[in-house]
Amino acid sequence: MSSRVPVIAANWKMNKTIADAEAFLGDFLPRVGEVTSADVVICPPYLALKAVVELCAGSAVSVAAQNMHQEPHGAFTGEVSAPMLREVGADGVVLGHSERRTYFAETDAALAAKLPAALDAGLRPILCVGETEAQRDAEETEDVLRGQVEADLANLRDARLVELVIAYEPVWAIGTGRTATPEQADGAIGFIRSLIASRSEEAAAAIRIVYGGSVTPDNAAELLGRPEIDGALVGGASLHPEGFASIVAAAAAAAAAAAAAADR
Ligand code: PGA
Repeated sequence: MSSRVPVIAANWKMNKTIADAEAFLGDFLPRVGEVTSADVVICPPYLALKAVVELCAGSAVSVAAQNMHQEPHGAFTGEVSAPMLREVGADGVVLGHSERRTYFAETDAALAAKLPAALDAGLRPILCVGETEAQRDAEETEDVLRGQVEADLANLRDARLVELVIAYEPVWAIGTGRTATPEQADGAIGFIRSLIASRSEEAAAAIRIVYGGSVTPDNAAELLGRPEIDGALVGGASLHPEGFASIVAAAAAAAAAAAAAADR
């Protein structure tokens, strides 16, 4: 890990009712109350957002949605806009998750519109990118990442790049128990950082790029100890307060170790 403040985000996907979210936070918040060296984010389903915002008020934990529409309002049945998410107190939004790209036809063109819409509304985007197994086997990983990053960030000014979090999530590692090796994750994230550097060296040095895909309490420390990996987007393991808190603790420990190394 570097001197960048790590981000540890819980992607709950379509899990947890409001009552479940309340029970989770009642257990989780006391466990992470002391942690200030990592940015902890909970991404609940839309209907639990307001309750989670209220329960996290006064804590260092922030709240993000899992998707949004790019228009502020209009005839888009079933959709939710960035200003609506801000109104309920969301701080951020996950955009371009591979499940949305695969099951809901999310396109890079839509993401190019969603990113500035999110930032303009005051939401910090967590943009997900990553290759499929077939693409990795065909040695297309860098081409895929370049295509997604260039297309998705096309409408953002260089000065705004630093406001994003990017999550490198290889599709083959999501929900499969097949975590990328620390070397694979570090390499891909370093490559994404080089893409950002081709637009702005300053943004590349500051932007947080995290890893996602079967992160667990058992593998978190090793992943978070790598220099390029600035945190984790956690799915399955974020549903359990104790396990997710131990991933947060691993990030805080990695941040402390990086700060000590920088002082030497
Ligand atoms: P997982 O999901 O941790 O269950 O693999 C990660 C994600 O989809 O963000």
